[in-house]
Parts: sequence; structure tokens; C-alpha cells
Amino acid sequence: MIVKSLKFRKTITAVCVLSLLALVILILKKDSTSFNDKITSYQRVAKREDSEDILHRDLVPEVKKEHVQKLKMEKEINKGDDTTKRELQEAKARIDQLEKKIAFLEGRIPQKYPEVTYLGYKERKRILVTGGAGFVGSHLVDVLMTQGHEVIVVDNFFTGRKRNVEHWFGHRNFEMIHHDIVNPLYVEADEIYHLASPASPPHYMQNPVKTIKTNTLGTINMLGLARRVGAKILIASTSEVYGDPMVHPQPETYWGHVNPIGPRACYDEGKRVAETLAYSYAKQENVSVRVARIFNTYGPRMHATDGRVVSNFIMQALQNLTITVYGNGKQTRSFCYVSDLVDGLLSLMASSYTLPVNIGNPVEHTIEEFAMIIKNLVPGCRSTVATGAAVEDDPQRRRPDIAVAEANLHWTPKVSLQDGLQRTIEYFREELSRTTFYNNQTYMDIKVKPNN
Ligand SMILES: NC(=O)c1ccc[n+]([C@@H]2O[C@H](COP(=O)([O-])OP(=O)(O)OC[C@H]3O[C@@H](n4cnc5c(N)ncnc54)[C@H](O)[C@@H]3O)[C@@H](O)[C@H]2O)c1
Repeated sequence: MIVKSLKFRKTITAVCVLSLLALVILILKKDSTSFNDKITSYQRVAKREDSEDILHRDLVPEVKKEHVQKLKMEKEINKGDDTTKRELQEAKARIDQLEKKIAFLEGRIPQKYPEVTYLGYKERKRILVTGGAGFVGSHLVDVLMTQGHEVIVVDNFFTGRKRNVEHWFGHRNFEMIHHDIVNPLYVEADEIYHLASPASPPHYMQNPVKTIKTNTLGTINMLGLARRVGAKILIASTSEVYGDPMVHPQPETYWGHVNPIGPRACYDEGKRVAETLAYSYAKQENVSVRVARIFNTYGPRMHATDGRVVSNFIMQALQNLTITVYGNGKQTRSFCYVSDLVDGLLSLMASSYTLPVNIGNPVEHTIEEFAMIIKNLVPGCRSTVATGAAVEDDPQRRRPDIAVAEANLHWTPKVSLQDGLQRTIEYFREELSRTTFYNNQTYMDIKVKPNN
């Protein structure tokens, strides 16, 4: 009986142990399933980080916290991205703009310079051209550079333009100094062409005192420089020293007929003093001087709006505007093409002739005729010619007697009016295509006398 009871107890204990084991196994299995679920869930979080829904999933608090922080950071970066993107776009636009500007500037600076002759050390001169960025000066610079000389241009750009000489920028024989000749200048030179002075009536009347200073103080400075460095100096004088002439055509021996207090006096008398100064320095200081009395000159690089006859008439004809003749149109002028003038200046400098020399073209036309010549040279021109009020102190006759130049410089002008005007018209046509000129009102006005 006792043995039976013991067997039963053992059986009960074994069943209990087995049941306990099974329970433990069950519990362990459940834990393992929940652990796997968590792992899968974390993996999904990693895969779909961009989704905000994930926040609502059943994540452990640490993962949730970390994810929220990450999303916040992303939002910040995105915000920053907008600003950065805008800044980048702005920078790109600016770079594009600058690249275009550089391309434009590079296009304007020729890679190749006009061909120049090679001159040896002994033949090569250092030549100073005052007013070298102006109309006449820039053509003179071209010839001197082409001949192989070293050229220094001095200009205050009152009426001159860098564009007139920009094709020489960077050339080893070329130098440009921005300087007002009313102030002293210290440079070395073998020859000086002194051309700095406004030349058209509206320009020189704009600031008469400055015009006088340029032609007197400026000329003293240049003559003083010539004396110091032993340079030969050529003074650009003018036919205006003859004023409204009583002798026709005008020879160099004619003393002139100038109104000393008229609107043109600042220029006319300024140039007369410049001549006096030149011969005073020659006599007293032994300076080698040349004086060119330049008559009306025209050609490319003239100022389009300076109010002078050639530029006015061509600009008006090209735009089919009324061609305005000041006065009755019977006053005469003779016009010299710029290349002829430059040849004359070079010949004078090279010669041993020291008295004043007229340089101009003796072919004379009335202003009225001249207006018609220009009108006919512009194809399809529909302009009409009209006369207006006369200009105060306007010389009635102007024609050079060039016998002195012919005899002493062996110089005569070569370019016909027809050829010279054609070239000038082409130049102005191009100017018109690159700049906007607003009809007559922009042409600098010159003082006119009332009609009656
Ligand atoms: N063009 C003509 O028909 C003509 C006729 C007679 C005389 N001229 C004389 O020839 C010379 C050149 O005339 P242009 O037609 O070439 O005139 P322009 O106005 O084109 O040139 C004159 C140059 O001198 C410069 N200049 C003026 N004042 C200056 C100063 N204080 N310091 C430095 N530079 C200064 C100007 O900026 C300009 O580049 C002038 O002396 C003028 O009196 C010209």
C-alpha cells in the first residue's frame, strides 16, 4: 500500500515538473516573438525615415525621441537650403554677368596691335603728345606708333576719349597719362606735339577761363618741359589767330583781325599768346619750336555733337533732320582731311623751318554749298537745308595760303573733299548705330546772334 502511494506521488511530481517546464518554454517563446517584432519595427523606421507617420507607430521612447530630433534637423537644413539656393542662384547670375562683361572688354582690346615698324635704339624717339586722346591727336599717335616710336599721351579727357587710342593699350611703346597740362609735368621726351586744348566753339566757350589757362599756363608748362629736357616742341595753333580776316586767303604774314573781348577770344587770344610764348622761349631759352596754324580739319573720331559744321551736317543728314546753316550760308570754309593734317604736322616737326606755317586745304566752299555736298553724299537723304541765326564773330571767309608749307615742307593736301567726306560719313554712321543721339537738341548749342 505504502509502495503504491509512493509511486503515485512520484508520478504527480513528474507531471508537475513537466507542466512547469512547458510553461517556462511558453513564456520564453512569447518574449522572443515580442523582441523580434521590435527589431522589425526598428528596421521599418530606418527604411522610412522620411515619413512622419512613423511617429505614431509603437516605437520605444528612445527611438521616437531620436527620430523627432532628426526630423527637426532636416527641417532646419531644408530651411537653410532655400536661403543657400537663393544665394547660389544670385552668385551664378552675377558670375554670368561678369563673364559677359569680361568677354565684352576682351573683345574691345585687340589681341593684335596694328603693325609697327621696328626702330633701333638710335632712331627710336620718345614722343609726348598732349591732347593725344582727342580727334587730331589720336590720328597723330597712330602714325607715330606705326613708325615705331615710343609715344606718351597726356590728356585730361575733357574732349578726348580713351576709345580713340584704346587699340594701343598695353603696347610696350605706348603710355597714357591722365593729366591736366595746366599743372607741371615731368617726363622725358625727345619731341613734344602740344595739341591739348578744346578746339570746337561750344567746347572752348563752355569754360573760357579754363580755355585761356590751358593755352597759356599749359603752354608755359610744355615749353618749360621742352627746355628742361631739350625737346623740340610743336605748338598746335589755329587759323583763328587771323580772326575775321581782312585779307584773303590768309598768309602767315597776316596779323589778324580778332575781337579781344568777343565770345571766341578765350580761344583766339589764348592761341595768339601760345604763339608769343613759343617764340619767347625760342629766343630767350633757345627752345626749338615749330608752330602749325591749323585750318578746319575733319575726319573719323570727330566729336559727333560738338556743333561744328562737318559733324553737324553729317549727323543731321544721316538722320534725315533739317540741315541747319547758321547765318545766310555765304560764309566760306576750307576743310582739310585729318590724314593730310597729320602729314603736315610730321613734316613741320621734321623740318628746320621755325616760323608759323598754315596747314589746311585751300579748296574753298560756301557753307550753303557744303550742306548740299553732304546731303548728296548720304544715299537716300531726305533732309532739307534751312538757314538760321548767325553766330557772333563768325569769320566770313577762311582759306589758307599754303605757299609756305609747299615751299618749306614740300607738303600739299592729297585727300579730296569727296573721299574724305565719304570716310567721315561712314564713321558717323557707325557712331549712330552704337549710340543713341536724340535729334538736334543734343548737339551742343553755340551762341547765336538774334536774326535782326
Ligand atoms: N580740329 C580742327 O579743325 C582744329 C583747327 C585748328 C586748330 N586745332 C588745334 O588742334 C588741337 C587738337 O584739336 P582737336 O580737333 O583734336 O580737338 P579735340 O578736342 O578733339 O582734342 C583736344 C584734346 O586735348 C585734351 N585737353 C583739353 N584740355 C586739356 C588740358 N587742360 N590738359 C590735358 N588735355 C587737355 C582734350 O581732352 C582732347 O583730348 C587743338 O590744340 C586745336 O586748337 C584743331
